[in-house]
Amino acid sequence: MFPSQRQRAEHVRRIFDRIAPRYDLLNRVISLRLDTHWRKKAVAAAFRGGERLVLDLGTGTGDLALAAARAIGDVGKIIGLDFSPEMLRLAVGKKNRDRHGGKTFYIQGTALSPPFKDETFDVVTTAFVLRNVTDLSLFFLQAYRLLKPGGRLVSLDMFPPSRLPFSFFYSLYFYRLVPWIGARLAHDRDAYHYLSESVKGFYPPETIADMIKRTGFENVTTRGFLSGAVCLHAGDKPTKV
Ligand SMILES: C[S@@+](CC[C@H](N)C(=O)[O-])C[C@H]1O[C@@H](n2cnc3c(N)ncnc32)[C@H](O)[C@@H]1O
Repeated sequence: MFPSQRQRAEHVRRIFDRIAPRYDLLNRVISLRLDTHWRKKAVAAAFRGGERLVLDLGTGTGDLALAAARAIGDVGKIIGLDFSPEMLRLAVGKKNRDRHGGKTFYIQGTALSPPFKDETFDVVTTAFVLRNVTDLSLFFLQAYRLLKPGGRLVSLDMFPPSRLPFSFFYSLYFYRLVPWIGARLAHDRDAYHYLSESVKGFYPPETIADMIKRTGFENVTTRGFLSGAVCLHAGDKPTKV
């Protein structure tokens, strides 16, 4: 459908620019508020104590960045990167309203070439981004490059559940009802159709765990929620010997 990866990325960016004003509301409705709970789990998996600098790739409206800001110590900073200016505009608005917002900073750019030096961050997080990325190997490679030795990668995303009967009801909900809800609440059926299609065609969680391992991460773990419809992957960049 897209002649080049650049065009696909541009298509995705435009979708998020379009749905940005309704993104948070739709997230809460579609996930029945579970998204907030999953992000807290991601933050808990990311922090082991002493982290100072966190990068949140595909930060969107900043929910994971803010959850991390609430959990990190006083000297901690979270940098949120996203290619959608409209999503970032909302993230900055939330930063200014949140008590912990002063620890968050936002930058526009692509997760496939983030403008930071090697070994800058203690933690790299990402939530609900993988399915939108045109080159996942490069995405993980960048996360690896940017982490300090011993740093931690945490990724939260949606996956097509395979176990019956949950997968049957999930398909009805996610592939039929969600685009309908998107049409009603965001007035953008196409965008929410894209989101459900992106889950349908996505890799199983085991493949993502393998990709993370192949990038060089160790202690790679996968934790599933909702019968594996949402999974949390974590891995550590080895410490140098
Ligand atoms: C589904 S939203 C998730 C936002 C946020 N992480 C959350 O937990 O709600 C996906 C975000 O990833 C961003 N994104 C997708 N591909 C990207 C890329 N290659 N570089 C930067 N941002 C990207 C989109 O603009 C969008 O804001």
